[in-house]
Parts: sequence; structure tokens; C-alpha cells
Amino acid sequence: MRTQVAIIGAGPAGLFLGHLLKRAGVDAVILERRDRAYVEGRVRAGVLEQVTVDLMERLDLGQRMRREGLVHGGTNLASDGDVFRIDMAELTGGSTVMVYGQQEVMKDLFDAAEARGVQIVFDAEDVHPQDIESDRPSVTWRENGVDKRLDCDFIAGCDGYHGVSRAAIPSDVLRTFERVYPFGWLGILAEVPPCDHELIYSNHERGFALASMRSPTRSRYYIQCGLDEKIEDWSDERFWDELCLRLGPEAGAKVIRGPSFEKSIAPLRSFVTEPMRHGRLFLAGDAAHIVPPTGAKGMNLAVSDVVMLSEALVEHFQDGSDAGVDHYSARALARVWKAERFSWWFTSLTHRFPDRDGFDRKMQVAELAYIKGSRAAQITLAENYVGLPLV
Ligand code: APR
Ligand code: PHB
Repeated sequence: MRTQVAIIGAGPAGLFLGHLLKRAGVDAVILERRDRAYVEGRVRAGVLEQVTVDLMERLDLGQRMRREGLVHGGTNLASDGDVFRIDMAELTGGSTVMVYGQQEVMKDLFDAAEARGVQIVFDAEDVHPQDIESDRPSVTWRENGVDKRLDCDFIAGCDGYHGVSRAAIPSDVLRTFERVYPFGWLGILAEVPPCDHELIYSNHERGFALASMRSPTRSRYYIQCGLDEKIEDWSDERFWDELCLRLGPEAGAKVIRGPSFEKSIAPLRSFVTEPMRHGRLFLAGDAAHIVPPTGAKGMNLAVSDVVMLSEALVEHFQDGSDAGVDHYSARALARVWKAERFSWWFTSLTHRFPDRDGFDRKMQVAELAYIKGSRAAQITLAENYVGLPLV
């Protein structure tokens, strides 16, 4: 088999890239280790920046999002129960975010892939990028027990944090930067109306809490928890009690309780790998970087990566210029680091750090009070939250 671009992984990065290349007339094949139901079923964040909304529209995938997504012009912060609003639209000259679950985005991408002939091989075992330093790279894998090989011009490693692509870059070339946080997020989904029409990020003495949603009838809530905690120890009742406490009396009183139908604990990590290209292999999305979920930048960063990567690849195939290909890593990393900084800062501002003392907590409370009273500070938060421009 032969194609122009072999894409490893059919998460948001791989699927968006597949669609972008298809639209531009560049041949690509996506190789995914799991099946569609698995990839689509993973519960992830659900706040789309303008860049992501624009891409959905540009790919003619925006119909359901426009109908079912919730446009948010503001978000809320809480400091020990005192909730205040950041009017993002007013502060940024009209920018908003769209609340539309990653699972819905994935469904739209998969449905359209089938209809538009974006090629995806599911259940591809033992996928490996080969000869990435040569100008004739390939990807090998096993399918139903049969060895397969795809010759290509470029490989896009869109296979997430645990994928094989990053590992194909020699260790003396690769540099990694990492921060592991001493807590996780315990999240639930419940078929109940959300406590507010916008999100609430709450810093409470007992730890962080987040009120989010998937629709006017489906809520997504999180509380910070210890990394050693067990999901079995968190009955729904215990979760609701702790959430209400951390959101404070006003917002807590508006929480409507109900049985959870999903409950899981996720660790928090900041991670960046440099460079995002080696030879004929490019990294995009979680394969190259991870952000803690505070601020919901994960999928949006995967999207900005593949927008830049598709532009570079199209330039190569259509104009015969490698300027974009050569600039991809530096261009993508410039935006990645800014989103890393914001996600790290927002996490540091809102979480309880078990290893820190009363002084650090006072600094958080003072910073929240400063943000509440300062338009300049609110603009800084708002422009990062709605998403920085692609440059
Ligand atoms: N071979 C083939 N596919 C693989 C391999 C492999 N060796 N390893 C992983 N994959 C697949 C996974 O099964 C998954 O479907 O690659 C895909 C990677 O998807 P994500 O982990 O979602 O990464 P990405 O597309 O970069 O999306 C980043 O979306 O899922 C969220 O938390 C994530 O917000 C982040 C954003
Ligand atoms: C979510 O709804 O899952 C969500 C929203 C905002 C975040 C993180 C997760 O910052």
C-alpha cells in the first residue's frame, strides 16, 4: 500500500488531520489501534475554543454543534464560595467558547469520515513508524494476524501520550519537560440540569471543584482528589456533599443531585516534548504534549497542531515548498508553550497543594481577589481561556 501521509491514531488530532488533508486533496490513511466505539466512548473535556469551532465549520461539520452546542460568553471563578463572573465576550471584543463534548466532536468526525472516504484502518496491532530519517518512510502493522506495510512521504504521529511515535525519535534528539501534580480530578456525569448556565471554577480550602455541563439536562462535575483515592470510596452522596461544600453556599444550593452514570479519576500532568518533528515524522496533539485539564486546552491544542501541520503538508505537496514543513515544530511549540503556561497557572491558582503552606494559600486568595477587581487581570484570563490566535 502507498499513500502520501500515514497518520497514526484516530483521536481528535488524527481525525481532524485526516479530514483536512482529504479536503485539500492530499492522500492519507489513518491507522488506529482500537475500534471506533472505544475511541468515541472516552469521556473527555467539552469546551471548544474559537479555533476548534472554526475548523468544525470549515470542514462542514458544524451543523449539529450549532444546534446542540452551548455558546458561553462568560465563565465564573469562586474563592471560598464567593463566585464572580469573567465576561469573556466583553473583555475580548466578542470571543466566546462552545460547550460541546469531545465525544460529540468524535462522533461527527467519524460519521463524516465514512461519508467522505477518509480512510481509517481500525484494530491495527503493533503499529510502527519505520525509516523516519530516510526520504522513504513507512508504517508497519498487523491486521487480523497479517503483516501490513504502508509506504508514504510523511508520518503524522497522532497516537496520544502512550503512543509509539514519540518513542521513534532518538533519545539524544528528544527533550522532554514535565510537571506531575500531587492530585487528580474525580469526575462524574449525571442526567441533571447544571447548577449554573456557565462554568464555575472554584478554589476552596478543601480543594478545587468545577461545575461544567454537556447540555441543559446533563451535568459534568469534578472535584480535586488525592492520587491514592479509590473510586469505590466515593459514593454519589459523598461526591455531591463535597462538591456543594466546595462550590460554596450560593452555587452549592443550586446543585441538582441525581445518580451518576460515569465516575472516574484522572491524574494531572504538564508535559512537552521538543522537537515536534524528526526527519519525516511529525508529532501532533497528546503525542507531543499534555496539559492539566484546568482550562480545557487538550483537544484545542491538538486542533491547532493539525491545522498548522496540514498547512505545511499541503504547501509541500501543492507548491513544492518545504518552508512550512521545516517551520512546523517551532510554530506549533510557540502556541503549545503558551497554552501550557496558562493551564499550569490556572491549575496553580485554583487547587490545594498538599505540600504547600498557609502562605501559598494566601497568595492564591489574594490573586483571586485581584482578578475579581482588575479588568486587566480579567482580560489576561479571558484571552487565554477563549484561545490565543494561530500565528
Ligand atoms: N497505534 C495506533 N494507534 C494508537 C497507538 C498505536 N500504537 N497508540 C495509541 N493510538 C491511538 C489511541 O487509541 C487513540 O485513539 O491514538 C489515538 C490518540 O488519541 P488521543 O489520546 O485522544 O490524542 P489526540 O488525538 O492527540 O487528542 C488530544 O484529545 O483525547 C483527548 O485528552 C486528549 O484532550 C486531549 C486531546
Ligand atoms: C468538562 O466539561 O469536562 C471540562 C470543562 C472545563 C474544563 C475541564 C473539563 O476546564
